[in-house]
Amino acid sequence: MSTFPSPRPLAYVAEKLQCGGADLSELAEEYGTPLYVYAADDVTTRAALLRSEFVATAHTLCYAVKANSALAILKLLGEHGCGFDIVSGGELERVKRASPGALSKVVFSGVGKQAWEMDAALEAGILLFNVESQAELEVLSARAVALGKVARIAMRVNPDVFAETHPYISTGLSSHKFGIAIANARAIYQRAAALPGIDPAGVSVHIGSQIRSVEPFAESVKRVRRLVEELSGDGFDIRYLDAGGGFGIEYGTASSDPAQSVRDYANAIREGLANLKVHLLLEPGRFLVAQAGVLLTRVLYTKQNGDKNFVITDAAMNDLIRPALYQAHHEILPVEKHDRAEQTSDFVGPVCESADFFARDRSAPEVRAGELVAILDAGAYGISLSSHYNTRVRPAEVLVESGQVRLIRRRESMNDLLAPELF
Ligand code: LLP
Repeated sequence: MSTFPSPRPLAYVAEKLQCGGADLSELAEEYGTPLYVYAADDVTTRAALLRSEFVATAHTLCYAVKANSALAILKLLGEHGCGFDIVSGGELERVKRASPGALSKVVFSGVGKQAWEMDAALEAGILLFNVESQAELEVLSARAVALGKVARIAMRVNPDVFAETHPYISTGLSSHKFGIAIANARAIYQRAAALPGIDPAGVSVHIGSQIRSVEPFAESVKRVRRLVEELSGDGFDIRYLDAGGGFGIEYGTASSDPAQSVRDYANAIREGLANLKVHLLLEPGRFLVAQAGVLLTRVLYTKQNGDKNFVITDAAMNDLIRPALYQAHHEILPVEKHDRAEQTSDFVGPVCESADFFARDRSAPEVRAGELVAILDAGAYGISLSSHYNTRVRPAEVLVESGQVRLIRRRESMNDLLAPELF
């Protein structure tokens, strides 16, 4: 048995790739391809790892639902004590269905919350609204008064910290649409205090996603801490500090020890908060689910154009858009190991766009039509960013839990896809 590449829940057993102990070729036979496969134990192990670093700190992990919003995964994380970070009324509905007991541990982020979404969250009794503008604060106040509720809020502050990541997923600079400038925060909290139905209970920050170094987290927590102290001086009772999500993973083959990287991240946050009397909220998404999942796909054809080799798979950019959208790297492994010569190829899907690729000029042992490959680290922002582009149905999803395989989303039918249309 050989494992590749650590720390993913993958292993070759008798030259066949398994995910979470389940044989991927058997899953492909049973459920068809493209297929998302997730190892539940990997998700819960990571949640436990993160929590173990914060045992001495009052904290709640609010899993960022957008990373992978499968009801089965929300249920699983809810059962393991997580709360949730939501960004829409739709995500709230998911939590209500999958983990109603965790509604009191929900934080609601997002720059464009609508009145109906606020109403639903107020009725559900969520923990905290992460408010991103003064205008939103006024609407929330009106909604809370109308419903006879009090909304606990944290202003999401923009700390103006640069974090090295893809520009589309960096959020902590003053040029971004997110949050309010930290310099204006005290004035807005004064305004919040004067509004009925609003309880200024926390401060929140989120500087971006797939951040691999701890310094930007340390710097932003430092700036937020200063603000919390100032607000306390102003007489506010700030009980929550939401440090956001964004903790990245290793998508490549470099060896990485999640336990060590979690320790460094947690140290940076804990040091920044030392002796501050707040309940820490964290909003991890990718870290919990990305490496637990693969996108399993079958090779339809191979071909050569000029001096380039193409491997054409039955999965496409509508199933996993990260390479097209962020030039993201995903490792690709053959499901059956063989010792063919290496070949440099583009792995592409059937969609009619040159951006429909999973890898470009990737050197890998030759793969042939009919064979299966696994696209790694597809558990986060895979199915949740999928679409029907090219009138393709979304893939099925299975969860492997202690060796047991469970279908958690059936493959869509063409009827599912076309049903809302009128002509
Ligand atoms: N909290 C807030 C307010 C967020 O906006 C996000 C992600 C998270 C938490 C979770 O961040 P994470 O721990 O997963 O990095 N589609 C992109 C990532 C977009 C992230 C958006 N916000 C990708 O595939 O890389």
